[in-house]
Parts: sequence; structure tokens; C-alpha cells
Amino acid sequence: MSEVFPFNFPVETAVYLFLLTLSWALHFFFVGYVVAGSVYLAAASLRRSNSGDADPIEAVVRDWMPSALGAAITAGVAPLLFVQVVYQVEFYTAGLLISTRFMLILPALITAFYLFYVQKTKRFANWRRPTRAGIALAALACVFFVGTTWMRVHWLTVNKSSWEDLGNPPLDFGNGHQALARGGVFFAAAILLGSAVVRAQLGSPGIGGSPLSGAARRLSRIMGFGMAAMIAALAGAAFVYRAWPGPWMALTARADQPYWVLMLVAVLIFGVFIPSRPEAARARLRARAQLLAAFFIAVALAGIREGLRSRFAMMSTLHPRHFSLAEKGGWAVFAAFAAVNAACIAAAIRIARSRCERQA
Ligand code: HEM
Repeated sequence: MSEVFPFNFPVETAVYLFLLTLSWALHFFFVGYVVAGSVYLAAASLRRSNSGDADPIEAVVRDWMPSALGAAITAGVAPLLFVQVVYQVEFYTAGLLISTRFMLILPALITAFYLFYVQKTKRFANWRRPTRAGIALAALACVFFVGTTWMRVHWLTVNKSSWEDLGNPPLDFGNGHQALARGGVFFAAAILLGSAVVRAQLGSPGIGGSPLSGAARRLSRIMGFGMAAMIAALAGAAFVYRAWPGPWMALTARADQPYWVLMLVAVLIFGVFIPSRPEAARARLRARAQLLAAFFIAVALAGIREGLRSRFAMMSTLHPRHFSLAEKGGWAVFAAFAAVNAACIAAAIRIARSRCERQA
């Protein structure tokens, strides 16, 4: 048995944990765009004038927001299934339907969807600033509500004793400082992921002194801020978690160390490729390297997060259950559908990109 998470568990458990970790990383990759994008749109709507056309970042984020939210939701289904297989907690799905508080996720997501669509309309651009700000802030509030609700769900799964009353789970996140530290790391990571995707969407900003160079400079500043926020959030989280010997030992355990190294390397690569000069040579290649670094940040976060939880919630009684589930088969069908889905997603992105390029 390897010492690295998730391979420090029996092979069937390790495979399910691996799939949970990877699928959550993908979910969070899209969530990062949605969170960072909704903050950007809300901030832009609070500005005095409507700069949508003048600001390519705002234009591209506004255009892609409904699709990004759709991708985040769709990508949330896989970890939702795997987390139930891995921990066999009654709380997921059925629990979500029983509890009215958690069921509010659905109307919040639908509302966010329509509010993002409204922000794409020509009419929106002509509305007065308070109306535009109200809509953008309401969308941000929906996203914030859904994100923090998932943090509550996560907390409840590691603290079974606190959810005896399934229909009326507590509203808290457990320890306030820990929740703040987790939320801070998620938010900082969202800035890095979102900004890397926007940079890739904008192509090679600034080449040949195009009007995008102003946007490139702004994006560099956002990335710099994201880096500083990430370093501060990780340092803050270390400070907070040190006070709790159990979680601290789990976080610093040998099994999780490769994820910390991955996080460090990915954040460093991300920083190195922040464009200092928008017209830098090979801008497209650098943007792609940064996008890859951003994805590895999501993977590292997923590994650290799941490594920590598995230390508390993975009972040895679950291993035989994983074994018998794996015996039931279905892996070939799973692999075939995963490949078909990946191909569909790649095709959808390619079609959308070529349409955008034709319009440009
Ligand atoms: C705007 C939409 C969403 C946002 C901002 C969001 C954000 C988050 C965040 C921050 C976490 C980490 C919680 C933690 O570790 O404390 C998380 C976990 C998760 N999310 Fe999402 N999420 C969104 C939508 C969804 C949807 C629609 C689904 C399901 C279809 C979903 C499925 C999950 C699952 C299964 C987890 C893991 C929960 C756990 O490990 O206990 N998410 N999400």
C-alpha cells in the first residue's frame, strides 16, 4: 500500500477516492470561474458608467457566465455520486431533498441562471446603475449562498453527531475560524482559476498593441491580487488549523505532502506566467501554461481537502462495502460514458470558440 493519498487505502476504496478527488477538482475549476466572474460583474456594475463594451474582461465573463454556471452544476453531479459511494452518508441527495434549507440550492441556482442571462441582454446595458447593480449583486448572493451551503453540507458529513435531525440540520459551519479559513482558500483559488480561464478566453491579449492590452494589464493585477490572497489564505489557514491537533496532524501527514508540493509548484508557475508585458512573446503558450497550473491548483486543493476528510470520516467498515460495490462491475460502461462526455464537452468548447473567432 502506498503512503500517498488516496493510495494509502485498500485498492477499491482508493479508486473511488481518486475519482471523487478528480471529479471535485473539475467541479471546482468551473466553480472558480463562476465565483470570480460573479464578483467581477458585481464590481463592474457598481462602477459609475456601463463599461461593458469597453472592458473585454467584463464582456467575455458576462457572455460565458450562464455556460460556466451550467458546467459547474453538471460537474458537481460526479462528486455528488462518488461522495455517497465513498462515505455512504445518508445526507447527500435524499438529505438535500428532505432539508428545506439545502433544497433552497435549487431556486438559488435557477435564479442565478436567469440573472446571468439578463446581464447578457442589450436591454440590461441601458438600465440605470442601481438596477444593474441590484441584478449583479443578487446573482452574486445566489452563488455565495450555494457555495456556503455546500460548505455546510461538507461540515455535516464530518460531524455526524450534529445532524441527528436530518430535516432540520444546524445552520452553522462548525468552527467559525476553520470555516473562514476554508472559505478564504476557496475564494483565493477561485480568483486564480477564473482569471486564468479569462486570459485563455481573451486569446493573446495585447499582441501588436491591440485594445486588449489595457484588459491584459488589469488581468495581471487581478492575478497578482489572487496570488497574494492565496498566500495569505494558506498562511491564515495554517495559523488557524495549528490550534486543532487532529486536523493539523491530518493536514501535515505524509499522505498529503505531495498535494502541498503540487500546490506550491502550481502557484509558483502561475506567478511566473503572470504577463508582465502584455505583448510578451509566446503569450498564448504562457496563457496555456497558466491554465494548466490553475487546474493543478484545483487538483491540489481537492487532494488536501479529501485527504483531511478521509482521516476523520473513512471508517474501516466501509472498505468491504467498496470492495463489494467494485465487484458489481459497470466499469466499462462508466469509462465509455466518461470518454463520450469528455468528447462532447471538447466539441462544445471548440464550436463555441470557433464561433467567437468568426465573430471577432
Ligand atoms: C454556484 C454553484 C456552486 C458553487 C459556488 C459551489 C461551491 C462549492 C464549494 C465551495 C464546495 C466545497 C465545500 C467544502 O469543502 O467545504 C463544493 C463542494 C461540492 N459541491 Fe459544489 N458548488 C456549486 C454547485 C454545486 C452543484 C449544483 C452540485 C451538485 C450537482 C455541487 C456538488 C458539490 C459536491 C458533491 C461537493 C462536495 C461536498 C462534500 O465533499 O461534502 N455543487 N461546492
